[in-house]
Amino acid sequence: MLIEFVLNDEPTSVEVPAYKRLADVLREGFNLTGLRSACGKGYCGLCTVVLNEELVYSCMIPVFQIRGKSVQTIEGYAETEGFNDVFEGFKEAGVHLCDYCAPTRTLTTGILLDRYVRPDARQIEEILSSVKCNCTPYETLKKGILLTSQIRQKRLKS
Ligand code: FES
Ligand code: FES
Repeated sequence: MLIEFVLNDEPTSVEVPAYKRLADVLREGFNLTGLRSACGKGYCGLCTVVLNEELVYSCMIPVFQIRGKSVQTIEGYAETEGFNDVFEGFKEAGVHLCDYCAPTRTLTTGILLDRYVRPDARQIEEILSSVKCNCTPYETLKKGILLTSQIRQKRLKS
């Protein structure tokens, strides 16, 4: 099946079986390996991408569903100011992520903070749980999220 869509702001297309998983299409067909193909069951969040401005687990999306839609991966997000906000916020908070989680954690934090400009406790929980991680202390991550939010608010005001 020919799938036409927009990938990281560029119109593109790919010829693949309709039910191939979006995660595999992006990793194998476009070499976008920042998203991980980990649990494959919608549990870990490590395959998250932005589909028409919503965060989705790309391991759960058959590729035919993205026809005519817009997909953003961490590789595209890395070109945005939002990415720099997260990078700075996490650095200031002393957040050290493993290489496996860092790309997706950065993407989900940045995108959810677009939605929650001043996140409350419930929204911080949602950001924290967007990626399953057993190594980084939640308090450190929380600090990183709050610092990112402050950095972003400052940038948007200036
Ligand atoms: S690989 Fe998709 S949620 Fe874990
Ligand atoms: S940052 Fe990768 S498991 Fe925690």
